[in-house]
Amino acid sequence: MDDRVILKKISYFILLAAVLCSCSPNKVKYHIGVSQCSEDIWRDWQNAEMRMEANFHENISLAFATAHDNSQLQSQQIDSLVASGIDLLIVAPNQLSSVSPAIDHAYDSGVPVIVFERKTDSQKFTAFVSADNYEMGRQMGEYIAVRMGGKGQIMEILGLKGSSPADERHRGFRDAIRHFPNIEVTATLQGDWTEGTAYNVVKEYLSQHDRHAFDVVFGHNDRTAIGARKAFEELHQPLLPSFCGIDGLPGENGGICQVRDSLLTASYIYPTRGDLLLQVALDILEGRPYEKEVMLTSALVTRENAKVLLLESDEVMRRSQQLDLLQDKASSYLQRINVQRIVMLLGCVVIVLLLVAIGLFYLYHRNKVNMQRERVLNNLWNLRVNTDNEDGPEKTEDPEKTENTEDHKASDASAGHSESSAGSNLPNDPIACSGPSDTSDSCAAGAESSVAETAAPSPFIIRFREVVERRMCNSELSVEDIAAEMNLSRVQLYRKVKNLSGASPVELLRTARLNRGYQLLLTTDKTVSEVAYAVGFSAPAYFTKCFKDEFGMVPGDVRR
Ligand code: FRU
Repeated sequence: MDDRVILKKISYFILLAAVLCSCSPNKVKYHIGVSQCSEDIWRDWQNAEMRMEANFHENISLAFATAHDNSQLQSQQIDSLVASGIDLLIVAPNQLSSVSPAIDHAYDSGVPVIVFERKTDSQKFTAFVSADNYEMGRQMGEYIAVRMGGKGQIMEILGLKGSSPADERHRGFRDAIRHFPNIEVTATLQGDWTEGTAYNVVKEYLSQHDRHAFDVVFGHNDRTAIGARKAFEELHQPLLPSFCGIDGLPGENGGICQVRDSLLTASYIYPTRGDLLLQVALDILEGRPYEKEVMLTSALVTRENAKVLLLESDEVMRRSQQLDLLQDKASSYLQRINVQRIVMLLGCVVIVLLLVAIGLFYLYHRNKVNMQRERVLNNLWNLRVNTDNEDGPEKTEDPEKTENTEDHKASDASAGHSESSAGSNLPNDPIACSGPSDTSDSCAAGAESSVAETAAPSPFIIRFREVVERRMCNSELSVEDIAAEMNLSRVQLYRKVKNLSGASPVELLRTARLNRGYQLLLTTDKTVSEVAYAVGFSAPAYFTKCFKDEFGMVPGDVRR
């Protein structure tokens, strides 16, 4: 087969394997970055919802970053998410203004932005998803005021300064309380959404104020309210105020349970809705219509409805656990499929490597054989003679042994034995010769050697060539016959030829026969069989085989 055909076939196979390898059934299409301002139970809940939702869409990958309430860190994280090439950014800005430049930059660089739950101070976002923080503060204010019977003292613990929910909850709360002139917000303490800070600021306040008769403590979230409660509890007062917060999370440590267990008097559900966030994200990414401002509904949690809400949330959790299980099963199934795919891919890679290795080996081998053949031919016909040392260095090999082998080989052409042959040069010395039955032992009559000689060949080689050319058509011709005609023993002939040409007499004889055959095919109308006989092959089929080995094509190809 032609080298180029082999190379072509190998490259087709590699291409096919590469296409197969690149055909991933569940290719991720959308990389979504989620920038969370904090890490806490509320965010955990929301992140879990996003992950769960992402599982339903095989084409989504999520990258989470949490800034631990640090606006500067959050800005950096947003920058790196954008630099990583996300397709959409979901962000809860820690504070209103300090994170805005990073969000604006993301938006300006063409990344759609969903701001959720906390606002930025710019309009550069694609969608905003949140519950109404002002309304939550207002309704909580009304609930507390009514519960207090329209009179009494309140402690308010604010959320993180500069974050929009803190500001809005505060304004809503105050707007509600304003309608109750006998209610006084005696203390307004600065919190930062964390339980620890609330505990610290309340403890400090209480230690500085001897007389405190608070009826209600309103923390801007449940964790703040619980931190305040812990500080109050440390005073060992017989009468504790009521504690109210916002978030109303389901689950063991969530606000609903805390209301049920009377740790909190009320909470307000601040919906996490990570699932909805991803749905909006997909609507944006896939070009479906979406609302620019999505307002989430929420509800007050009191002792009256806490149990019902818990039942409902338990049911939701049970379902989501079932979904988790299903999800686990599905993903372990997918994993198995992936392992199978990897094994298949590896198999493909191994096959490709093997093919490449075989191809390379084949080419290398062919090249080597060709070079060897060329050398043999050149040695035979174009040899530069070292007249000083025509016999060449004495070989250490056992000439007797080699000669015996040669003896057998000499009549290979007539016996039809197979062996590797030499010579790939285009032959150029056609010789008119009689067929196999021609026992005249002279087939070089009228033949002319047209091999270009670059230097005067050795007289020995000239003689050897002359004998070979003249007698090659005799299929019975043996090395011994040639040696005898040259007045040499078989061993002497072998040594001389081998030393001068690097090839054995038999090899040179067969190469000469095949070259002559090539020439005859080119320049005469003889049939292949006639040519085979004419150059000393007793079996045309064997001639065809040797010819193919020699020239990489069958004799008929020369004609075509
Ligand atoms: C969670 C949280 C909630 C609070 C909200 C305000 O990080 O602190 O507890 O309601 O953020 O943005």
